Amino acid sequence: MTVDEQKRAAARAALHYVKPGMKIGLGTGSTCSPFIDLIGDMVEAEFDILCVPTSEATRAHAERRAIPLTTLEDNPQLDLTFDGADEIDPDLNLLKGGGGALLREKIVATSSRQMIVIADISKKVETLGAFPLPVEVVGFGVKATAWKIERAFAHLGLDASMTLRVRDTRPFVTDNGHLIIDCALEKIPDAPRLAAMLSGIPGVVEHGLFIGIASLAICGTPEGVKVFTR
Ligand code: 5RP
Repeated sequence: MTVDEQKRAAARAALHYVKPGMKIGLGTGSTCSPFIDLIGDMVEAEFDILCVPTSEATRAHAERRAIPLTTLEDNPQLDLTFDGADEIDPDLNLLKGGGGALLREKIVATSSRQMIVIADISKKVETLGAFPLPVEVVGFGVKATAWKIERAFAHLGLDASMTLRVRDTRPFVTDNGHLIIDCALEKIPDAPRLAAMLSGIPGVVEHGLFIGIASLAICGTPEGVKVFTR
C-alpha cells in the first residue's frame, strides 16, 4: 500500500468505532480528509451523527459533505475524536500541529471520552521530536515568549532551532488568530516534562505535545491496518 492508501485504510478502519447517535470530533489534515468523506457517505445514507470540527478547513469540508455540525458550547462532552498526528510514541503520546490546528484539536480531543488517532505507519516513532514541535503563541511579545521557550528547552538540555511559521511570505495565523513557532529539537526525551514547562510560559497558548490524551492509534501499514493501545 502507498502512504495515501495507508491513510485511507486507517480512516476506513476507524469507522468501526462510530455508532449511531454519537457526537464526534473531526480532526484536521490529510488523514482525516478521507475520514470526513467516509462520514459524509454515511450521512448521505441517513446515518445519525453530530460532529465538532477541529478547524475552519475541516468545518468547510464537513459542510460540503452536509455533515451535521455542532459546537462545544451546545455539546461540551463528545463521545469520540478522530484525528491525525505528526508523530506517535509507544505510550501514544503525540506530536501534532503540522497543520496548525493544535489548539482546537486539543480542546476537542480532551472534551471527548476517547481520542482515536488515525495515521500511516511512518508516524509511529520511538521518541517524539524529529518533526518540529509547533508552539502556538500570541502575537504580543512574540520575541519575549520565544526567548522564554528557548530558556525552557535549555533547562532540559535541548538545543532548538526555532522558526516563526510563514505562509505565502507572511506569518501563518491560526484559526484563533495566533502565531506558531516551529521548534526543531530532533529528540524530546521527556515529552511530559517539556509539555508541562511550555504550558507554564505566559504567551504560549498551546503546544503540539498531546500527553496521555489518545488511547488508540489505528495505523495503515504496507501489510494492512495495525491497532495500537496503551
Ligand atoms: C493538524 C495536525 C494533523 O493531525 C497532523 O499534522 C497530521 O496531518 P496528516 O494526517 O496530514 O499527516 O495535527 O494540526
